[in-house]
Amino acid sequence: MVQRGQRVEEAILARRERVNDAIPDDLPVVEPERLYEASRYLLDAGGKRLRPTMVLLAAEALADVEPLSVDYRAFPALSGDDVDVMSAAVSVEMIQSFTLIHDDIMDDDDLRRGVPAVHREYDLETAILAGDTLYSKAFESMLETGAEPDRSVQAVSKLASTCTKICEGQAFDIDFESRDAVTPDEYLEMVELKTAVLYAASAAIPAELLGADEEIDALYGYGLDVGRAFQIQDDLLDLTTPSEKLGKQRGSDLVEDKQTLITLHAREQGVDVDSLVDTDSVEAVTEAEIDEAVERLEEAGSIDYARETAHELIASGKENLQILPDNEARDLLEGIADYLVEREY
Ligand code: IPE
Ligand code: IPE
Ligand code: MG
Ligand code: MG
Ligand code: MG
Repeated sequence: MVQRGQRVEEAILARRERVNDAIPDDLPVVEPERLYEASRYLLDAGGKRLRPTMVLLAAEALADVEPLSVDYRAFPALSGDDVDVMSAAVSVEMIQSFTLIHDDIMDDDDLRRGVPAVHREYDLETAILAGDTLYSKAFESMLETGAEPDRSVQAVSKLASTCTKICEGQAFDIDFESRDAVTPDEYLEMVELKTAVLYAASAAIPAELLGADEEIDALYGYGLDVGRAFQIQDDLLDLTTPSEKLGKQRGSDLVEDKQTLITLHAREQGVDVDSLVDTDSVEAVTEAEIDEAVERLEEAGSIDYARETAHELIASGKENLQILPDNEARDLLEGIADYLVEREY
């Protein structure tokens, strides 16, 4: 019996390859080439593809099919029609990449997916436009699944409200940089909006497209909880993982004065969070400075506090999956939830 952790990593890898193969079909490089090359640049640089993997696995769990046995471009809806769930998966990944391009501009980060951020590799104007292009192309792809019209509208509507929420969450994230303190509830609301809603949409949209109405809310709830936990893990990795492994600059959150569950806990414990790192650029901050900051946060119990909260959210998220048929894809969705907080990059 292969360990579930290994099966989950293999499941992600297999779907990542399928998604990577599909991207050039849904986003070909056409005129003006510089725009489309910049739009494809981060997609082609890599990425874990966790959200599109969730789309594909949720579809497989709902349709109760043997994983990887059915063509994702012609997936069986409850009505018997074929739905292109790969198009939905690529759509979600285009939204993900769009948010990363704009996020790196806002967070003043230079490294993404192990390569220079789009605004560094190209220029600011091109990066803004590449993000906008991915954003609109994502809606085109979500409209092209071939699902029944009312189901298609439901999915597109979910994608639209998700994008609005991401903007709201990113606005809170920026706003919090200049606040003295935020509460755990405020933090959790911010990460629900900026990050978790895209996981929630990724899990729920297949149910909408395939006509599995009873499962929509549970899958959405699953995505919200595991998505919040995912962001807590992202905040932890920002402190602990070397830039080369992370593919983005370690310590960026400290430099940018981000409020995370870790720093807000430390503040409550009396740590002077604002002077943990004095440097105000990611190029200038040293590994020693970050190491020292992490030591202080560890001593305050803040790292453990964040880890525990993330694990509680994962446990709560997984409960939602009980509504799905008991099959291998459901088991993998449970396993992915664990992976989101156990991952090392
Ligand atoms: C990064 O997401 C953005 C956050 C919401 C924290 P990922 O860590 O999933 O990034 P990629 O897609 O694998 O590059
Ligand atoms: C990103 O949060 C949220 C979105 C991209 C919407 P972060 O700013 O923490 O993401 P990373 O760490 O840069 O990937
Ligand atoms: Mg960022
Ligand atoms: Mg950010
Ligand atoms: Mg981060």
